[in-house]
Amino acid sequence: ALFGANSPQAAGGVAGGLALGGPFTLVDTQGRTVTDRSFRGRWMLMYFGYTSCPDVCPTELQTVASALDRLGPAAARIAPVFITIDPARDTPTVLSHYTKLFDSRLIGLTGSAAEVDAAARAYRVYHAKVTPPPRESYLVNHSSFLYLMDPNGRFRALYPPGLSAEALATEIKRQMTTNS
Ligand code: NI
Repeated sequence: ALFGANSPQAAGGVAGGLALGGPFTLVDTQGRTVTDRSFRGRWMLMYFGYTSCPDVCPTELQTVASALDRLGPAAARIAPVFITIDPARDTPTVLSHYTKLFDSRLIGLTGSAAEVDAAARAYRVYHAKVTPPPRESYLVNHSSFLYLMDPNGRFRALYPPGLSAEALATEIKRQMTTNS
């Protein structure tokens, strides 16, 4: 019932006719430059969101943390990556505090607006800033899929929001034990 790609070429892949994934250059919570290649050799479970998100992001990150727990030792082969689509507010320090609220294994990534836009574009992530009057703060509407990339950086699966931790762990385990 989920979207998958069985024979993607090179980095990235195709799901339902959409090319998903590709090169990115971002900054981790230590201020170090990180690219998609930094994760070769590990599975990558990716989510795009922002730390001021009132509802969806916290729910999904909690699901990711619980799914990692359910995966047990296999979780060591997975890099759970949270990429902000609100780099103006989500500095490395802000991201560091936020990701630790959910799971110390989460890898928070930010960057310049242009770097974040490029990463979001590669994964077809929709994001749009909205400022409900008369407030000065803003929300960012965004799509909310989880992406599973294999150790070669190839797209393997797309998981919709609202999946249970049990279902997510089962799907990831299935992908990890399936040859591509
Ligand atoms: Ni969100």
